[in-house]
Amino acid sequence: KESYEIAQPLLAWYRQNARDLPWRHTQDPYAIWVSEIMLQQTRVAAVLGYYARFLTALPTVADLAAMDEDKLMKLWQGLGYYSRARNLQKAAQTVMADHGGQFPQSVEGLKALAGIGDYTAGAIGSAAFGLQTAAVDGNVLRVVSRLLDCHHDITLPATKKEFTAWIEEQLPPAGDDMRQFNQAVMELGATLCGPNAAPQCAGCPLQGQCLAHSRGTAEKLPVKAPK
Ligand code: ADE
Ligand code: SF4
Repeated sequence: KESYEIAQPLLAWYRQNARDLPWRHTQDPYAIWVSEIMLQQTRVAAVLGYYARFLTALPTVADLAAMDEDKLMKLWQGLGYYSRARNLQKAAQTVMADHGGQFPQSVEGLKALAGIGDYTAGAIGSAAFGLQTAAVDGNVLRVVSRLLDCHHDITLPATKKEFTAWIEEQLPPAGDDMRQFNQAVMELGATLCGPNAAPQCAGCPLQGQCLAHSRGTAEKLPVKAPK
């Protein structure tokens, strides 16, 4: 794990260009976790107001664990996918009961909590604790498919495994760079290397390392076979 060809220019770009989002100003695993759960099925713009209200009403994991369920559902109303809110509270109660109110500081420990899968554990573990671990969502799959000019179907678990293994080779060491690395790949996939229009390669920090850019295939990627 020593390749900086991706991480170094990507982090430099992120530090200059990242959108200013509230969960990027904290290292509190609770606040980062709440943001990641809200962002699972909801756009950033729609999350912002809910996120601020939620953290004002429930500033700590202890507050969430103890919240009246009806009031919790009211706070969540409009975000949809209410199982997310129920899992949040269940996980908060586990953190209080089994971990003395502290979030587990390992990917495996995080994944043992309700509603936290591979992606979310990686996102929290890296951003909150600087763990050297990947967090692969749809944005990341798109960016990697383009960097590698890989036309494998991203809906297949084998493709996700392949891209995850490649991203793992690009990770910086544990610490401050890791707090931002996964956010940075996602940010590239949410902005310049986005899903809905031709990628804006001219401003991309990875243009020189991108096979789809040099081969002119970026707009055909990622490949997503219909189920
Ligand atoms: N989508 C999922 N996680 C995100 C994050 N931390 N920032 C912006 N968009 C996201
Ligand atoms: Fe995406 Fe273009 Fe950057 Fe490649 S060069 S990662 S296609 S924006």
